Amino acid sequence: MVVPAAWLLPGVTRAAQATVASDGSRALTFTPISGSRDDAVHLAPGYTSQVVMRWGDAMFPGAAECDPRTLIDGSLLRPGAAAAQERQFGYNCDAIAFFPLERSGRRGLLCVNHEYTNDELLFPDRRGMGREGAARLAEWSRRYPEAARVEIAAHGVSVLEIELVGDRWRPRVGSRHTRRVTGRTPIDISGPARGHALLRTNADPSGTRALGTLANCAGGRTPWGTYLTAEENIDDYFGGFHSYRSSAGADSRVLAAHQRFPLLEAGYHGWEHTEPRFDVRKEPREALRFGWMVEIDPEDLSAPIRKRTALGRFSHESAGCAVARDGRVTVYMGDDDKFEYVYKFVTRGKWNRRERAANRDLLDDGVLHVARFDADGTGAWLPLVHGHGPLTAKAGFADAGEVVVKARAAADLLGATPMDRPEDVAVDPLTGRVYVAFTKNGDRTVDSRVADNDGQRVDRRVDAANPRPGNEQGHILEIVEEGDDAAARRFRWNVFMLAGDPSSPDSRYLTDAAALRPGRLGAQDTYYAGYAGSEPPAPFACPDNLGFDPGGNLWIVTDGNQPRGDNNGAFAVPVQGPERGYLRQFMSAPVGAEVCGCEFTPDGETLFLSIQHPGEGGTLRQPTSAWPDGDGLPPRPSVIAVRKGGGGRVGS
Ligand code: FEO
Ligand code: CA
Ligand code: CA
Repeated sequence: MVVPAAWLLPGVTRAAQATVASDGSRALTFTPISGSRDDAVHLAPGYTSQVVMRWGDAMFPGAAECDPRTLIDGSLLRPGAAAAQERQFGYNCDAIAFFPLERSGRRGLLCVNHEYTNDELLFPDRRGMGREGAARLAEWSRRYPEAARVEIAAHGVSVLEIELVGDRWRPRVGSRHTRRVTGRTPIDISGPARGHALLRTNADPSGTRALGTLANCAGGRTPWGTYLTAEENIDDYFGGFHSYRSSAGADSRVLAAHQRFPLLEAGYHGWEHTEPRFDVRKEPREALRFGWMVEIDPEDLSAPIRKRTALGRFSHESAGCAVARDGRVTVYMGDDDKFEYVYKFVTRGKWNRRERAANRDLLDDGVLHVARFDADGTGAWLPLVHGHGPLTAKAGFADAGEVVVKARAAADLLGATPMDRPEDVAVDPLTGRVYVAFTKNGDRTVDSRVADNDGQRVDRRVDAANPRPGNEQGHILEIVEEGDDAAARRFRWNVFMLAGDPSSPDSRYLTDAAALRPGRLGAQDTYYAGYAGSEPPAPFACPDNLGFDPGGNLWIVTDGNQPRGDNNGAFAVPVQGPERGYLRQFMSAPVGAEVCGCEFTPDGETLFLSIQHPGEGGTLRQPTSAWPDGDGLPPRPSVIAVRKGGGGRVGS
């Protein structure tokens, strides 16, 4: 396998990257920290962090700065607030990708996702997702129509130029690259579902141009230097679905398209009350225009942003890219829901290293595959191709567009393996091995229990690849493609880690892979790639984003309840050598936050992390966090840069 040239842009040579990877000092030697419950970022000794951008920071010259002191007075409910937000850094930063603009890597573009808004931390008297009460939220939303506009503007993606000055990264406000993509930005629909009848709306009868990108969670970098941003929980944003479904005029083909990715009767944000396209009764196909992988060229503002429908429609997580032996490009993806699947897309064409523009539409043509994990440690990538096998018109797949719109249903028919919430996928830059995080699935059972999962008949019973019942702490699998080729149709796999607390008296700390037999494991049992050294590895749970440093160490950031009740954090673990599996905690996050991003500069000397939803669980009136501003100010999701005091590789 060719090492993914994820950092390579014109002007940044492979040789420069190889120097980093082969300098002989790739070991993780930092002093680990323990978990914390403080409202602060804690780092391994010798490391410092800075806030690069906070939600509400101005991104353009002359743009207003958010003043968090005024939120409690309802400043974001007033006309003009949304227009200001469109020129500010968005909310709940998630995936981060760094694109060097020059050889030194000291100047580059940062692409940052903004997954969702914590409305209870933006506006007084909101309660938070799932706690608003449908009637109350409807009334509130109609009274304050600016609120939905602010929230839509706070979603999407930010592109900003940053520069390392001394040992601090500074945003270059006014850079020609600066861009805000929001929930309203026009985005082309490309690939097999472009123009499809299921994607046509009143506002766009051609089915070719969507407004906005939403729920942008994980992401990735293509070898040709574009950004992939994954639309994940788009079902939170639409309302009126149950009324539509039971109405006499409901379109059965549209309902079939929604079946495996159903919507809500009361959207979590109440947008359907003021923005008609989010009301399923008025625009039953609008939601089908979300749930895709979106490609943005951070260098070229004139290049249209495109929803690449060839990569399927589901709760997209991750876009881990690798280059196959013959030059085709693979994108590994998770579908983050209980009992959903792991996918990979393989392009038909080959990556053109010399002519960047030649790769522009590479992601529109290729084959989407879904993973089946067999009990013997092998697996198969099953192609989702219209007209092949069960994917016929008779089965509800009239054409290639319908296969990608209904990718989950197609994967069901192929016999894919239902997993414990697939999140991020990372490809080891040195070996090409693939690591997949499964955040958790408390519904996994010891005994066979067949249940309906939104039209999917699924047996919830543990299996070799999801071996723990009541899996509330998550796990990580390691995949080795046949022939080390990212385009392979077969692979081998093994359980890399079962997360939890290896020191807990309630768990068995397993060091022998032979013990990982489904039916024989308890919910608290842990396994750290067979590591049996004398130093106890760190407790952790709910792995979400994964990243590799240039030396080939795996970094894991978490989103969920940690085993000892501590805050989420960032962890690092070697995947090779005698310390394989020896996980150490590097960072601890503020109260209520998850940690995302996990992006290194090519020299490995800066680690960018997203601190997403600090203070989640509180409200403006009853806050639980004041990070990062302190002084009792409302919390603000922010991107931080972590560096070693005096310089040096992060992790050393
Ligand atoms: Fe948005 Fe699955 O994390
Ligand atoms: Ca995620
Ligand atoms: Ca998450």
